[in-house]
Amino acid sequence: MSLSNDSIPPDEGPAIVRNLAALRDQCQAWRADGARIGFVPTMGALHEGHLSLVRLAAEKADRVVVSIFVNPSQFAAHEDLGAYPRTLEADRAALTGLGCDLIYAPSVEEIYPDGFSTHITVTGISEGLCGASRPHFFGGVATVVCKLFNQVKPDCAVFGEKDYQQLLVIRHMVRDLDLDVAIIGAPLIREADGLAMSSRNAYLSPEERRIAAGLNQQLAAAASTIIAGAKRGKATVNATLDATRQALFASGFDRIDYLELRDGEDLSPLPDNPTLDACAKARLFAAVIVGKTRLIDNWPLIP
Ligand code: PAJ
Repeated sequence: MSLSNDSIPPDEGPAIVRNLAALRDQCQAWRADGARIGFVPTMGALHEGHLSLVRLAAEKADRVVVSIFVNPSQFAAHEDLGAYPRTLEADRAALTGLGCDLIYAPSVEEIYPDGFSTHITVTGISEGLCGASRPHFFGGVATVVCKLFNQVKPDCAVFGEKDYQQLLVIRHMVRDLDLDVAIIGAPLIREADGLAMSSRNAYLSPEERRIAAGLNQQLAAAASTIIAGAKRGKATVNATLDATRQALFASGFDRIDYLELRDGEDLSPLPDNPTLDACAKARLFAAVIVGKTRLIDNWPLIP
């Protein structure tokens, strides 16, 4: 492996490469050997959800690159960029033995050098849900992911269904810009009590953590109510979601950013009494706040 001076040698776990030139040398050498490259972009503070993507990438490709970069352009000024957990050595330990060959952990200057002035906007699919409450978010994600794709030049890249709208935004960008990378969606991984795994769960106090587990339970209950109604031709989506909002507040959540039923392919809203066919592709999407922590989750109406 050709590593530059500021790269850390692979004494334990995958090598950490910090600059683009070293990343390109390594990926170029792999491609010259005929290896297929799989890529998993992350912001670090890795948990089992991230690791499941790495395992999937290792099944689909010969070499796997994991990027760890807390991307400033997807955080608004009032958000948690400064507080976001940065745990590079623990991340490297977690990645050891999973088939990750290289960790790309660039500096902010490496990704956004002086004078950086290009921004990708994916319209339509990125509007509504998280796009409504975090208007800067998907543009920042699309821009950094497009850049990372150009840097790594992967054959395939894995994204989790935990960030379902993000996965669709990336699929749209790849299609619209003819990027030559296969996007693979991976299932949402949950804690034993059903809480969607997230790096931000580390912010939760024990009491908030207890409250947080109620989100997936409320989504599951709302899904069964809607499906039971649709089977009788009498679903009442709006009333069910209103009741779910009340239950979420009663169980201790402080705010609800959104709770909506949307089509799982194009995120279009569903009518109040959808057909069973429409329900088959539909998912509940939620973003809620407990204390200072924003949690997102999504739940298919029919598992
Ligand atoms: P991050 O939140 O670190 O997530 C990296 C990847 O891990 C995303 O594809 C996300 O959907 C996936 N992931 C996180 N939690 C998961 C879970 N519980 N189950 C399954 N997959 C999970 O998403 C980002 O970073 C950033 O926006 C990024 C794409 C890296 C661009 O900066």
